Amino acid sequence: MDLAGRRVWIIGASSGIGAALATELVERGAAVAISARRADDLRAVAGDRMAVVPLDVTDAARVPDALAQVVEELGGLDIAVLSAGYWKQMDDFDVESFHRHVEVNLGGFANCLGAVIPFLRARRAGMIVGIASVAGYRGLPGAEAYGATKAAQLNLLESLRARLRPNGVDVLTVCPGFVETEMTSENSFPMPFIVSAEEAARSIANGIEKRSARIVFPWQMALLMKAATLVPDRLWALALTPRS
Ligand SMILES: NC(=O)c1ccc[n+]([C@@H]2O[C@H](COP(=O)([O-])OP(=O)(O)OC[C@H]3O[C@@H](n4cnc5c(N)ncnc54)[C@H](OP(=O)(O)O)[C@@H]3O)[C@@H](O)[C@H]2O)c1
Repeated sequence: MDLAGRRVWIIGASSGIGAALATELVERGAAVAISARRADDLRAVAGDRMAVVPLDVTDAARVPDALAQVVEELGGLDIAVLSAGYWKQMDDFDVESFHRHVEVNLGGFANCLGAVIPFLRARRAGMIVGIASVAGYRGLPGAEAYGATKAAQLNLLESLRARLRPNGVDVLTVCPGFVETEMTSENSFPMPFIVSAEEAARSIANGIEKRSARIVFPWQMALLMKAATLVPDRLWALALTPRS
């Protein structure tokens, strides 16, 4: 797919991967609208090159209005990128934190899909890009809530790919390894093979151009996660048992 002239809405683009992807896609000739809660940060990312549509994805009633505004600003919509996300390490199981992950990473995700799917389906063309994570592949202590929501996103996007295929709508699942963003800035654990947000953005833009079904990056993490899926459950638990 040639990105030149494509109309793209990136949700969760006031910082990090979404912001870097917005810049990358503008450089590849796309018309881009960006959303998130922090309007000043959105404006700083956009400059005069993107449309800005502030949005809290957990506000279900507001999402269709935001979509309408994006369509008006861009003159239509071809690609929706769902990048809004929440991560907080769980030192012990924390119900409140669990619910917040579900609210943003699944509730917000569903609110955006609920608006975008009927629109793209009616056009019988387009692409939905979901930014999931390699954290959804296997359970990791400390990421009980985040990992569970990312695993659910992987499953959801896989289901949608099959459902929307007859409607001409592609679904791209993006599984980044560690990326240097606000989200990872306070992580105190090792983050092997970490890449910059700009490198992540280039990988995602390439995945969109190739109409990939799923991309995992960097390649070292892709390899590691492939191997991880083969590790038996007891061995996985043994290897990841926190040392006291
Ligand atoms: N960084 C990594 O290592 C990594 C790895 C794998 C997957 N991911 C995924 O990549 C995506 C982007 O994360 P990032 O690393 O780029 O982190 P980030 O810099 O913290 O970006 C998160 C984005 O989500 C937005 N957001 C959060 N809550 C929102 C809400 N309720 N409504 C609307 N927007 C909301 C934030 O904007 P506002 O605060 O302005 O709303 C921000 O633009 C997330 O889905 C994350 O799970 C990240």
